[in-house]
Amino acid sequence: MIKEIKAQDLNTEKFITKKVNEIRAAVGSGMAINALSGGVDSSVVTMLGHRALGNRLRTVFIQNGLMREGEPKRVTELFRKLGVNVEIIDAHREFLEALKGISDPEQKREAITQTFYKKVFGRIVLESDAKCLLQGTILTDVDETVAGIKRQHNVFAQLGIDPMKAFGYHIIEPLIQLRKDGVRIAGKELGLPEEVFNRIPFPGPALAARIIGEVTEEKLDMVRKATEIVEKLLADSGAFQYMAILHDDRVTGMRGGKRDFGHQIEVRCWDSLDAREAKPTRLSFEVLEELAASILDEVEGVVSVTYNIATKPPSTIEAV
Ligand code: XMP
Repeated sequence: MIKEIKAQDLNTEKFITKKVNEIRAAVGSGMAINALSGGVDSSVVTMLGHRALGNRLRTVFIQNGLMREGEPKRVTELFRKLGVNVEIIDAHREFLEALKGISDPEQKREAITQTFYKKVFGRIVLESDAKCLLQGTILTDVDETVAGIKRQHNVFAQLGIDPMKAFGYHIIEPLIQLRKDGVRIAGKELGLPEEVFNRIPFPGPALAARIIGEVTEEKLDMVRKATEIVEKLLADSGAFQYMAILHDDRVTGMRGGKRDFGHQIEVRCWDSLDAREAKPTRLSFEVLEELAASILDEVEGVVSVTYNIATKPPSTIEAV
């Protein structure tokens, strides 16, 4: 049972000192690897890990082909300014290959988990002297996985999986007692810029969690473009998280006076404190119209744009 530290009870300085010491003790005199995705959780772990280990921590960004537009460059440049060198490892072919032909949500998540932890990290760890991987699992990831709602990509011990046996390395999870609000406080204290510690959450399975049905390069291009539009137009919404989802089924539309059997994009925008429960943000109709016009204009093949008005539960934040 993991003991939760609520954001309001977090003694940030004490927490950071404790985690830095725990990381040092777990890694010993060796090396560790750190998987940075650019999201809030992995960014905070990166800063903690560097404070604890300095040059003995190798930080890698896996280009899995499922990331948002411009993400690898944005993340590496930002961390370079913070004094952290980030290595980009291109593994996008492996991920797309693993996802080929799979449309079931949990199977998609499992394919990403295996490719990430077994294939890609298995190889990186084998090639290096590291025996530990640092990652940003938080309590919400664990809760939903253990409850069987959604297999979050980064949860193992709580499912009875020993990463050492399954993948050949230990996993260190310094943020596992926190939820998103607590992680943001720690990130601020560790010197991350506000654009990072207050960034909207983004899931480990990345845009694959935003495509209903099989993931293909063509669908990734569409959802990536729609995501860029939604993130730009809702940046000032004050919402907890917002996203574009590409549906699997098509609907009849018309373009240039001709029938166009096209794609559907669903926009979701959530108000939430820590992702456990969420409500749709009451966006103005003007904003919704602007979203629809931009998506219909800029994402080729889309003829329908909808706004999700369900709550979590029974919905979940991501569609997959
Ligand atoms: P759901 O969709 O379960 O999401 O309501 C709750 C929060 O978790 C994020 N999410 C993930 N984060 N790995 C992650 O690190 C995952 O596999 C994953 N799935 C969902 C989601 O974006 C939301 O903030």
